[in-house]
Amino acid sequence: MPYVNTKVILDKANKEYYAVPAFNINNLEFLQAILDGAVAENAPVIIETSEGAIKYAGNGDPYLGAEIFVEMVRRYAERLPIPVSLHLDHGKRLEYIMAAIKAGYGSVMIDASDKPFEENMAITKKIVEIAHAAGVSVEAELGTLAGIEDNVQSAESILVNPEEAEQFVKETGVDFLAPAIGTSHGAFKFKGEPKLDIERLKEVKKRTGIPLVLHGASSVPQDMVELANRYGAKLEGVKGVPSDLLVETVKGGINKVNTDTDLRISFLAGLRKYLVENPAQFDPRKYLGEGKKYVTEVVRARLRLLGASGKA
Ligand code: G3H
Ligand code: 13P
Ligand code: ZN
Repeated sequence: MPYVNTKVILDKANKEYYAVPAFNINNLEFLQAILDGAVAENAPVIIETSEGAIKYAGNGDPYLGAEIFVEMVRRYAERLPIPVSLHLDHGKRLEYIMAAIKAGYGSVMIDASDKPFEENMAITKKIVEIAHAAGVSVEAELGTLAGIEDNVQSAESILVNPEEAEQFVKETGVDFLAPAIGTSHGAFKFKGEPKLDIERLKEVKKRTGIPLVLHGASSVPQDMVELANRYGAKLEGVKGVPSDLLVETVKGGINKVNTDTDLRISFLAGLRKYLVENPAQFDPRKYLGEGKKYVTEVVRARLRLLGASGKA
């Protein structure tokens, strides 16, 4: 099965009530590890890159970075029996969005969620016009997530307003919507008990009907955290979205589950373990290869949890 538009993957997931993980990558190794996991599970998969990832891959040049990712993902996907798409995560700068569209991404996110509602709507509408003319689908965000990433910053979360979500989808023609329901990016998601506003999510789904996206969805698997710490990491007080709560979000209408932190931690665990146990080794294919194995395991577990296994 070829490289496909993200809409093909998410419309099917929406119709059949499951979710597909969207995994962030920055390099070749994570892509290989994710695809290995998706093939083993016979599952569709979405690969996504942030603006930071594109900048990194292109050595500072967004057009080069976007082309490198499209080429890598497309060339691998063409040989695989599963649908694979490539998505721009948290597009904020027009230059990066245009670079992704021009290079051949299947979808882009326009993240104007830090702007007032009317302004977010106007910006999103403009990007939808440009992207749709090129056959590229679009994700937007309503409400804000707490947490800090390269270009994604907010001190506290503001949850989505379902009435606004309905109006937003109607007026912008956006294909997928990320409603803020209480998650945050990174490895420190909840101070007390993990809690998400599932009723609010259900209301957004009822009013919009389109595929919904959960950002900040990593579960921060404690076995991987412990393994990394055993081999010298210092990951303390890290907490993610528990698996059962994630399943509740899928029942509430989530179809795309953004996952970055879990892969970063699992790769780190495998890499650290290997380096400590093999101090004489200096072949990067060996130590990076060990990190990849741990990423593949986490990818497989997530595909099964979200109901994407066997849906290729
Ligand atoms: O939500 C953002 C992703 O985790 C990507 O993070 O900007 O550090 O690449 P990044
Ligand atoms: P995590 O930090 O929970 O993996 O979230 C990733 C994300 O939302 C990418 O857009
Ligand atoms: Zn995100």
